[in-house]
Parts: sequence; structure tokens; C-alpha cells
Amino acid sequence: MARWLLLAAAVLFLVLAMAGCASRQSSSGFRLPDGDPDAGQQAFVTLQCNTCHRVSGTNLPETTAVTAVRLGGEVLAQPTDGKLTSDIINPSVQFALGYPDEQIMVGGHSRMPDYTQKMSVRQMADLVAFLHTRYTVKPVPYPVR
Ligand code: HEC
Repeated sequence: MARWLLLAAAVLFLVLAMAGCASRQSSSGFRLPDGDPDAGQQAFVTLQCNTCHRVSGTNLPETTAVTAVRLGGEVLAQPTDGKLTSDIINPSVQFALGYPDEQIMVGGHSRMPDYTQKMSVRQMADLVAFLHTRYTVKPVPYPVR
């Protein structure tokens, strides 16, 4: 009997611990103010994001970085506001896929600068609105028999 109780307590502890982690990572309930994509494109250049990024379907001034990380284009699912916001102000939490580590990281951290003191919430909302317009959702086609 005592063993069962111990096991139940352990499971309960694990579930609560996992729920704690999930709430820190989850963007449930997160909502940016509506943004203006044109102002976002302007902020993208003002904040010099274009020095490292190429954005699908735009003709922004050239990137100067060795590796231009591509933003926008065809994706399987539209990125959420939460994902884009974390990518911008907490870039080392999740790294862009498809690039060799040494091109996008230094000492385990993203090469992206810390923007937490350099942009307003308005700029963030506009940037995210701008980036949203640059992604095209292309579902995987069903296999043809
Ligand atoms: C000095 C170069 C540099 C600058 C400037 C820069 N970034 Fe980045 N950015 C990177 C690199 C390298 C990555 C890939 C590593 C990572 O995911 O953090 C990245 C990743 C991203 C991603 C995630 C891409 C993905 O596929 O997951 C977004 C979104 C992004 N940047 C937006 C911005 C915005 C918006 C700005 C300007 C406010 C900006 N970046 C400025 C270098 C830069």
C-alpha cells in the first residue's frame, strides 16, 4: 500500500514539474497588440535586421553577414506570435534549422544581438505583423497512388 502511495506521489510530482516547464515555454494566452506590416518593414531596416536576414518577397538593402538567415517563405504551418517574439528577443532558446552551428552561433549563443533594450513593444508588434505577411503555408500534399 505504502509503495503505491509513494509511486502516486512521484507521478504527481513529475506531472506538476512538467506542467511548470510547459507554462514557461508555452505561448498559450500570449497576444501581441495588432501590428502594421509596413511600419514593421521599416523597423526591420531601422533596427538593421536586414544586415543578417534575407526576407522572402522583399527587396531590402543587402545583407552583410556571412550567412544570411532566411525569414519567410514556404512553411508547413504559420509561425505563432509567441514563436516569432521569442525568436526576436530570446534568440538562443530555439535556433533556426538548416544552418551549420558555427554560422549561426558563437559560444552556444545565437549570433543575433540582444534587442531587449533596443526596441519598443510597438516595433515588436509591427515586426511580427510584417514577418507574418512573408510566410506562405504550403500543406504537405497527400501521396498520390
Ligand atoms: C548579427 C546578425 C543578426 C541580426 C542583426 C539579426 N539577426 Fe535574427 N538571426 C540571426 C541568426 C544568426 C539567426 C539564427 C540563429 C537563431 O535562431 O537565433 C537569427 C534568427 C532569427 C529568427 C528565427 C529564424 C528561424 O528560422 O528560426 C528571427 C525571426 C529573426 N532572427 C528575426 C530578426 C529580427 C526581427 C531582427 C532585427 C530586430 C534580427 N533578427 C536581427 C542573426 C541576426
